[in-house]
Amino acid sequence: MDGPGLGALLFLLVCGLVVGESRSRDAVRPEKLVVITVATDTTEGYQRFLRTARHFNYTVKTLGLGQEWKGGDVARTVGGGQKVRWLKEALEEYREEEDRIIMFVDSYDVVLAGSPIELLWKFGQFDNKVVFSAEGFCWPDWSLAEKYPPVSNGKRFLNSGGFMGYAPQLYRIVQLWKFKDDDDDQLFYTKVYLDEEFREKFSIGLDHKSKIFQNLNGAIDEVVMKFDKNKVRARNVAYDTMPVVIHGNGPTKLQLNYLGNYVPNAWTHEGGCEVCDDDLLDLSEVEDEELPRVLLAAFIEQPTPFLPQFLEKLLTVNYPRSRLSLYIHNSEVYHEKHIQSFFESHKDEFPSIKVVGPEEALSEGEARDMGMDLCRQDETCHYYFSVDANVVLTNPDTLYILIQENRKIISPMVSRSGKLWSNFWGALSPEGYYARSEDYVDIVQGKRIGVWNVPYLSAVYLVKGQTLRQEFLRKNIFTLSGVDPDMSFCKSAREKSVFLHISNRDDFGRLISTSKYNITDRLHSDLWQIFENPVDWKEKYIHENYSRIFEEDYYEQPCPDVYWFPIFKDVMCDEFVEEMENFGKWSGGKNEDKRLAGGYESVPTVDIHMTQVGYQEEWLKFLQEYIAPVTEKLFPGYYTKAKALLNFIVRYRPDEQPSLRPHHDSSTFTINIALNHKEIDYEGGGCRFIRYNCRVESPRKGWSLIHPGRLTHYHEGLPTTRGTRYIMVSFVDP
Ligand SMILES: *[C@@H]1O[C@H](CO)[C@@H](O)[C@H](O)[C@H]1NC(C)=O
Ligand SMILES: *[C@@H]1O[C@H](CO)[C@@H](O)[C@H](O)[C@H]1NC(C)=O
Ligand SMILES: *[C@@H]1O[C@H](CO)[C@@H](O)[C@H](O)[C@H]1NC(C)=O
Repeated sequence: MDGPGLGALLFLLVCGLVVGESRSRDAVRPEKLVVITVATDTTEGYQRFLRTARHFNYTVKTLGLGQEWKGGDVARTVGGGQKVRWLKEALEEYREEEDRIIMFVDSYDVVLAGSPIELLWKFGQFDNKVVFSAEGFCWPDWSLAEKYPPVSNGKRFLNSGGFMGYAPQLYRIVQLWKFKDDDDDQLFYTKVYLDEEFREKFSIGLDHKSKIFQNLNGAIDEVVMKFDKNKVRARNVAYDTMPVVIHGNGPTKLQLNYLGNYVPNAWTHEGGCEVCDDDLLDLSEVEDEELPRVLLAAFIEQPTPFLPQFLEKLLTVNYPRSRLSLYIHNSEVYHEKHIQSFFESHKDEFPSIKVVGPEEALSEGEARDMGMDLCRQDETCHYYFSVDANVVLTNPDTLYILIQENRKIISPMVSRSGKLWSNFWGALSPEGYYARSEDYVDIVQGKRIGVWNVPYLSAVYLVKGQTLRQEFLRKNIFTLSGVDPDMSFCKSAREKSVFLHISNRDDFGRLISTSKYNITDRLHSDLWQIFENPVDWKEKYIHENYSRIFEEDYYEQPCPDVYWFPIFKDVMCDEFVEEMENFGKWSGGKNEDKRLAGGYESVPTVDIHMTQVGYQEEWLKFLQEYIAPVTEKLFPGYYTKAKALLNFIVRYRPDEQPSLRPHHDSSTFTINIALNHKEIDYEGGGCRFIRYNCRVESPRKGWSLIHPGRLTHYHEGLPTTRGTRYIMVSFVDP
């Protein structure tokens, strides 16, 4: 705390009373302090102000609630006279009270950072009976600047967003107000102050060094946060003061939002988020049929990996179907088949599903405006939940949790697995683009947990229907000219002073990358995503029992030193085979082979090499990530580099090449993965290890064999007698 501790304070009080000569006047008791503010709406900024006031037990009196604002658009021009008129009325009751102290502050863009006792002590340090806050700009009439008394160190000009003083003096000042509601309040107080006679008579001073009032405009670089264990202050480093009232005047609303995420106790090192549970909506007693109705809007705005999985995840949202409607915008022809099959299977599960496809040729912004408008127009739509296709919501309770957070706009934080790329920005550059805030990394990495007021969020968010019908009444929320739809949305919110909240209080899911998704010439581009989206790749393609190999020796040994383990899901096998058949350039099974360095294959098969379909790098990555650990488990002490020159798919057919004669492989070890089902897709097949006269005759789809390549494991491919058998083979560590 700036100023004396409690002991010193008591000492000062006592001295003041006994000696009567202390520089500080007799301190006023906190009960004699009233904070007066003006708010016509209970905006989120106003509620934030009240929260900070409650924290310190300030007595607050709000003027104008529910009344029409006639004070002009103070954000853009002059105005605010209505505030003075209301204050004039309110001070009537205190006009005679000599020991009454009134502090007048704005509230939409103000937070309180210190206690009434501290405030009054600081006020007592002034020689004045009335103290106005100060700033570095002379507004609204620059020509008055030279009339101000010079100031050697500190801010010179009056700001009327915060002032305090004895009630009788303030009462007499506002009696001078004879103007219109949209005349300028700051100009009025400025003229009073600049009039030497008034200045003397009412004993008016300015808080040049932000001892009490910190106006942020023009002073952002002077203000830093100071963390104590269980409280956070804003410190002015230019004057070494700890102001009590922090005012985001002019264009500094976002800085105030940032400070407001902490000051005075919103997030502290000791207690974490101390205000997160203050205004939760309790849904625990609400019957399913009484839950708020939600429009879930899904946006597919570019070719997106793992789209069928995205659609399936929407179905896992833990919320009664009867309270959930769907709107899907898809701008990609490539994804029409996915949407179609989703729609066919699930159209009867929801009260309504509206799908808008690429044929409508809507821009992204138009599609988003349309979705939002569906909820806006429907009075029974309580929430609008927008989810982009690159969001993987792994937490089925996300929607439920967000509703309980009870904010106008709230987004669950999602980020790219292991990366700092997320769906929010902690700060905005002067041009309105991304800037990194000091706390960004801590929030993304979950080192600071809470609900954060940020300047930008995207990809997934929940908006109250009420907000759509009040602040977002205008329809082009996503289509402001010259900016991207997301930025347009955030800008719309900021202009309406609707806070953009992001929560990292729960794990919600992750973002996938769409940037390297190439759909040309491929049936199943997801197969190639092992580098760009490894987590989703694994979830889609790797066998659900793969991890049990390590946890509980989930594998078999059908022949000596031949191991057998699950590796792929069926979908991997199927997509792989389809991709190969689509490519279609099967080798002829001849000894001459131009694909090989030597141009000769002594034991030829009908096959396609990974290099031919552009999958060599991906396959090597797969070997490193998924096969090397198995090798190290099954052959302890051998560390594979998982290098493999030859990786290929083999096709066996009775009328093409049914079998393969006994041979050694040119590998240290070989993996051999069955890609389809015996008895269903083919009959016969399998593998025989000649030295042991041991056969694996019933290959399992998605399971791999691993065996040494030569010397001991001379082997042959047994004849396929019906249908087509596919296997995937790698000669590892040649
Ligand atoms: C505010 O008042 C409550 C109840 O009187 C008290 O418990 C609390 O300590 C006070 N807080 C502060 C900051 O003075
Ligand atoms: C996509 O793949 C095709 C062929 O496989 C290639 O010609 C093209 O350059 C790739 N595009 C991108 C953006 O990588
Ligand atoms: C995984 O193992 C469990 C238990 O052995 C089994 O019930 C399940 O079918 C296996 N999953 C697959 C895809 O084979």
